[in-house]
Amino acid sequence: MEIVITETPEVAAILAADIVERALTTIATPVLGLATGTTPLATYRELISRHVESGLSFVAARVFLLDEYVGLPRDHPAAFRQVIAREFTDHIDLPMTGLHSPDGPAADIAGAANDYERALADVGGVDVQILGIGSDGHIGFNEPSSSLGSRTRLKTLTSKTRIDNARFFDDDIDQVPHHCLTQGIATILEARHIVLLAFGESKACPLTRAVEGPITAMVPASALQLHPHVTVLVDEAAATELSYADYYRETFENKPHWQTF
Ligand code: PGA
Repeated sequence: MEIVITETPEVAAILAADIVERALTTIATPVLGLATGTTPLATYRELISRHVESGLSFVAARVFLLDEYVGLPRDHPAAFRQVIAREFTDHIDLPMTGLHSPDGPAADIAGAANDYERALADVGGVDVQILGIGSDGHIGFNEPSSSLGSRTRLKTLTSKTRIDNARFFDDDIDQVPHHCLTQGIATILEARHIVLLAFGESKACPLTRAVEGPITAMVPASALQLHPHVTVLVDEAAATELSYADYYRETFENKPHWQTF
């Protein structure tokens, strides 16, 4: 894992946008894996401004979301497909047919999970996956105890995640669904390049456990240690508990000029 500590989330967002831009400009039909939540929003804003100001094009891209709530109507403002459209894809030139998300409202959830795995396989997998980390260490909605070999499936949300996400439901936890359809950990690990973003002191503990702790189903993000190409972009606040922070800084400062992320 390459761990980069930046002064602010905005600097990290520029680096993440650089990685996405490189995929968009070097891969004929790039496949982007996107996360929702607050963490990646600065990256999406940066990409929107590159689209508007410099013509960065998403016309050949396909986007796959990590997860979706089960039990929300399709047009609910907190449904992740609505969120990503509102915050990002409505503001770029991604074709309507290019946005894919797990079909949380489907009557046949197991069938929807299989369809999503098939859709990912049909496009040859994800080139760049943007990830956040939950305060309980989840990636996607793979909560603690998720199998490290899991594929897209129904999951039950922890009460911690439901409390964290109540802010998207008028601060009313009773409105937060109990279930979701999420890419599994093994599904996520198939992305060719993973960019994990973590900002703020509330992420210091889960990030440190993910990056420096043992690989365990109790910290699903720790499975990223098994992946050969992960870039971890964190701000100073999220880096406070890292015991090798100086080493990560030194590595980044001495990065050979020919080496990209
Ligand atoms: P956040 O969520 O970006 O809103 O903190 C991250 C996550 O739950 O994966």
